Amino acid sequence: MNGANDGRSPPSSREAEPEDEHGDSGPELRRPPIYVLEGNTLHTRLTRELGVKYPFVSDGMAFVALPPLVIAVSEAGGVGMLGAAPEPADVLDVRLQAIQAGTQRPFGVNFLLVPRDGRHPTTREHIEACVARRVPIVAFQGGMPPSEWVATLRAAGSRVWVQAPSGEVAQLALALGVDGLIAQGRQASGLNQSTTPTLALVRELRALTDSVPVLAAGGIADGLSAARALFHGADGVWVGTRMVASVEAHAHPAYKQRIVDGDAGDSDVTTVFGREWPGHRMRVLRNGVVREWTGREGRAPMPMATAKRIGTTRLFPGIPGGPLVDVPPHSAFVPTPDTEGDLEEMAMPASGASMARIESVLPAGQIVVEMMERARRVLADPHGLDADADEDGRG
Ligand SMILES: Cc1cc2nc3c(=O)[nH]c(=O)nc-3n(C[C@H](O)[C@H](O)[C@H](O)COP(=O)(O)O)c2cc1C
Repeated sequence: MNGANDGRSPPSSREAEPEDEHGDSGPELRRPPIYVLEGNTLHTRLTRELGVKYPFVSDGMAFVALPPLVIAVSEAGGVGMLGAAPEPADVLDVRLQAIQAGTQRPFGVNFLLVPRDGRHPTTREHIEACVARRVPIVAFQGGMPPSEWVATLRAAGSRVWVQAPSGEVAQLALALGVDGLIAQGRQASGLNQSTTPTLALVRELRALTDSVPVLAAGGIADGLSAARALFHGADGVWVGTRMVASVEAHAHPAYKQRIVDGDAGDSDVTTVFGREWPGHRMRVLRNGVVREWTGREGRAPMPMATAKRIGTTRLFPGIPGGPLVDVPPHSAFVPTPDTEGDLEEMAMPASGASMARIESVLPAGQIVVEMMERARRVLADPHGLDADADEDGRG
């Protein structure tokens, strides 16, 4: 085994190649990355570090990635990540217990570090819950975790990953001593500050470090897109939108169907949702409210500053008896099976590049296995990679 995914031999020849407007390298046919075809399986540094079968990580999506999805992905041979929404540490602990009752395999928790209405959704108590339950991977997005949290988690045996939308953020994370980077490209759904296409960002972060795994996030939703990410030097893929359209995802059925029906041009980056996070851009399905406010997002009302309500939902989805709350307009609540109201007014994170590759709602385990087995076959025949090269820049 050798090659970029081991961190022993970065793809320096590819870094020098010019990129087209989609962030892809030129037309020259590249050689297959032999490092991912060990013994006819798809092993990378990620699979070896974690002892998992596939270099597949399902994104820790707030509201949607709850224990059933985490368990299904980890049991299928990938790594399931729990999405920690703004909820108290004791709710997180209930979810961790449920996951550990359902799988012995590696899993993780994904935390948002963006303050909301001046309050931080992730606290020292959340970190302590992860330490107490010996969570194998703890990932952060939206800011840098305090160095003390990183030290505490690592001392307890957790791996700490940070989602980086740029090389600058990746460098800050590396200086903190993190164990992995998630390259969040501009195609990625949800909170997204990136202006760099996914594959270009993978190459950029790969060039920054040989010492930790780099995962590719944004627009990866089938075997071909996964193969291309590995080909460009990623050690694994971090998959969001595709997993919303899984049986186990805690997403509203109509939201799942919109992802199945959606295509490359059907998502937008907007600040019209999560107005309590000023300036934070989200990639979402283009629905009625996105269309209505395009070009004047800054004038949309703050969720709590209006008496209007667009529906109801459970504050702690999936927790029996969790409080039922009103949904204000322009909030970042994502429609779950607990939600009632008009989806045309709600935030539905989704990537167009991913939606173009999604044909149906499937069991999560089937998605993992089919995507990875197809990626393995594609990597054995690199012609398939270049033929599809222009998918990458589509939102
Ligand atoms: C429903 C949904 C919720 C998300 N919530 C979070 C979140 O809570 N924290 C986070 O770091 N990223 C979140 N993301 C974004 C992902 O981390 C990731 O960057 C993205 O899903 C990758 O792009 P893809 O959807 O094309 O796979 C969310 C994505 C979706 C679809």
